[in-house]
Amino acid sequence: MGTATEDAQGALRRMKEHFPGAHDKTFLDAACVGLAPIEAKRAIERFLDAAVACDARDASIHHIALDQARARAVHEGARLLDADVDEIALVESTTHGLNVIAAAIPFAPDENVVLCDLEFLQVAIPWLKLAQRGVIREVRMVHNRDGAVPVEAFAEQIDDRTRAVVVSSVQWTNGYAVDLDGLADVCRAHDALLVVDAIQQLGATRLSVAEVPADVVVAGGHKWLNAPFGCGLLFVRRSILPTLRMPSWGYLGLETPEGGWGRYFATPESTPVRIYDFPITAKSLEINGTANYPGAVGLGASLELINGVGIAAIEEHVLGLAGRLHEGLTRLGVHVVTRPEREARSGITTFEVSDRPDENEAFLSALLDERIYVALRYTSHVGGIRVSTHLYNDDADVDRLLHAVARLLPRAGRRRTPLPV
Ligand SMILES: Cc1ncc(COP(=O)(O)O)c(C=O)c1O
Repeated sequence: MGTATEDAQGALRRMKEHFPGAHDKTFLDAACVGLAPIEAKRAIERFLDAAVACDARDASIHHIALDQARARAVHEGARLLDADVDEIALVESTTHGLNVIAAAIPFAPDENVVLCDLEFLQVAIPWLKLAQRGVIREVRMVHNRDGAVPVEAFAEQIDDRTRAVVVSSVQWTNGYAVDLDGLADVCRAHDALLVVDAIQQLGATRLSVAEVPADVVVAGGHKWLNAPFGCGLLFVRRSILPTLRMPSWGYLGLETPEGGWGRYFATPESTPVRIYDFPITAKSLEINGTANYPGAVGLGASLELINGVGIAAIEEHVLGLAGRLHEGLTRLGVHVVTRPEREARSGITTFEVSDRPDENEAFLSALLDERIYVALRYTSHVGGIRVSTHLYNDDADVDRLLHAVARLLPRAGRRRTPLPV
């Protein structure tokens, strides 16, 4: 029995109305790029109308009004994560957020960073570059165990010289949901930071920083958060903010001067060379010049839609669809790559119809011919045909995929798992 309120269930039943992109196809690839809701488009249109018209009394007031349009993304991001607004920065992408954090942590040359071999390449790159430059001693690799990366596997690599453990909360090729609670315990025991890439989770399943003691959470907006491109969230826990070395300084990160920026710029005695005291908030990690406001406006609208339904109800819906798919694929005798443990499930379910990647690729192509949007993804030999079930999907989408798999299977290569007799 579900626990989502009737309101939330009703909202989820009507969710396709918000996503025109889900009407003419079976869209099951939020792990690549999520569909954006009509609300995000309208919000950006309103922003652009204001940019075109400039109805304010002067251009400075106009600029400040456009600055303020970003605030919704920060507030809704904090609401989604159970964070404080001072702990949220807007970033361009996950890549941007990871690089900012890699530059901000004051590493010592004998320290190490731990990550696992299932990660998307970008999760590894910034830390490998630090090791190459001698900023840290090494990046230690946790090897997956048949697609799982349990806490024990991390614990074997973490020691008292581990400064950061970097992990995707949901792994991108097989949807493995890492035990962040358990990992946070091990990190705490060694005084290591827990840096979480949550781009494959945020917007689909619940991640509360009030409950999970991650130090950093970063997620681009364009996958499960349903935002158009160019803006994402970076959470940095208040307690670690004073320990960071801000990698850049931007004037919009300063407290607004008394009387506002318009007055400041009109003050003859103002001088650029003076002491600047920046507030110690996550916003100081932003570039803090005139930024990607349309991206932020789109993200704000998408987040509002998610928060309006409630992430607990969305999680129930997403995991329900993933469970239906997992069972359906198993019934068809298809090899389900995604781990069976329920606690490790996410919005991603991956399967293979053959041991041979080219045959899986041919199968993918046949699904795409039927306008069933899924993807082929591998890393470290883990992966296959990846299916993402999100808030705008329903049972009919999952069943359409399952029927297509059943129909196309006899034409596919060798099956990994024999059909049950
Ligand atoms: C786990 C993970 N991290 C990072 C990225 C890259 O995200 P962005 O384009 O927002 O930098 C991806 C993209 O697929 C991903 O799956």
